[in-house]
Amino acid sequence: MDPDKISGIMPHIKLLNIVGARPQIIKASAISRAIRRYFSKDISEIIVHTGQHYDKEMSEIFFDELEIHKPHYNLGVGSAGHGRQTSMMITGIEEVLLKEKPDCVLLYGDTNSTLAGALAASKLHYPVIHIEAGLRSFNKSMPEELNRIMSDQASTLLFAPTNAAFKNLMSEGFKPENSPPFTIDNPKIYLTGDIMYDNSMFFAGLAEKKKAEFLSKLSLDRGNYVLATIHRDTNTDDISRLREIFVTLKSLAEERNIKLVMPLHPRTIISLKTRLKELYAQLLKSPCINIILPVSFLEMILLEKNCKMIITDSGGVQKESHFFKKPCIVLRKETEWIELVNNGTAKLVDADPMRIRNEFINFMNSSDILEYPGFYGDGKTAEFILKEILLMFEKE
Ligand code: UD1
Ligand code: UDP
Repeated sequence: MDPDKISGIMPHIKLLNIVGARPQIIKASAISRAIRRYFSKDISEIIVHTGQHYDKEMSEIFFDELEIHKPHYNLGVGSAGHGRQTSMMITGIEEVLLKEKPDCVLLYGDTNSTLAGALAASKLHYPVIHIEAGLRSFNKSMPEELNRIMSDQASTLLFAPTNAAFKNLMSEGFKPENSPPFTIDNPKIYLTGDIMYDNSMFFAGLAEKKKAEFLSKLSLDRGNYVLATIHRDTNTDDISRLREIFVTLKSLAEERNIKLVMPLHPRTIISLKTRLKELYAQLLKSPCINIILPVSFLEMILLEKNCKMIITDSGGVQKESHFFKKPCIVLRKETEWIELVNNGTAKLVDADPMRIRNEFINFMNSSDILEYPGFYGDGKTAEFILKEILLMFEKE
């Protein structure tokens, strides 16, 4: 604890940490690590896993590898339509809140687990703390956009990871000048960095040590393969988009004779297997395409760090392309991480074959040295966030 910052009496606080989807589990490791290192006397952490993701490689693998405490509660909600899934989460989270009576509830990102946590906690008057507040795609047909806006509205402390996110909050009426005591009606917004930058920097060295054999097992040469992930519902559930993306990527990889490694989300595999059977068979036969199960975070970092280029519709992977200084083609119409596009190192191509092709060829052929400015903080964002949470509970 930073003695200069805390002047009053600091009560021990109980923080309920809600996770559910893969990226939230990874994000929680940055917070858990900072609690263990700096705040173990001040904060105890209860982890609630909604069970939104449940396959071993979408969930358990991260608890083991990233040294996160096993969930104290797993609500086992699983997959379902948005309404059913979110309502089961709200019910489960409410029961845990009534039993545990935490001091505050910590939420990450924009999934249905985030929204369920925000609704359950705010209705029971627990302060909600939102990490990754203020991100906006300005596309409300995305389920995540609704989750973001509603979760921010239910929050007391909002940690915006970028300038753009902080500005979005101000333009929605959040006031940076608010003073304590902070409440849902008098929330506090902060410009922080990104806890995923903390994580990627922390785990990058470890990944090289612990997973030294991983790239050679996949027969990948450093600097000479492309990494792609696809999971966004707009791409997996719209079969013509999914077809365009995979046909284009397959032909580009084969023309350039470069390996394309694709750790695919189960949602994408299910769509390919059931609705694009022939194409899926061709992908499996192609000498240039390597479709694999989702990988662990350390393995993912190795893939990102050593590739030539990244192609993705993931929010997290877009940013990691920047952390590891790789050009990125984004298979979406818009992005919440707009600084990447403004920087010219990420290109929005939607699912348009010509745009994918042009950007792929440009990045492959370009000898320009690309710049990757530090948009995402100093690697100590989790500590900053925890300090500010503690200050909210400081008693004079
Ligand atoms: C969710 C988030 C999305 C996030 C992504 C991270 C919402 C609305 N979406 O999308 O913002 O980018 O997580 O990965 O919360 N499935 C499995 N096994 C699993 C998990 C899912 O097979 O362990 C399959 C099921 O068929 C399921 C489908 O994937 O129906 C979609 O899962 P779901 O959690 O609803 O949404 P994601 O696409 O994962
Ligand atoms: N990730 C991973 N293994 C994979 C694919 C992704 O560990 O096979 C990590 C990735 O490095 C990033 C996070 O999962 O930290 C991103 O999750 P995802 O793409 O599922 O969701 P999004 O960020 O789009 O919400």
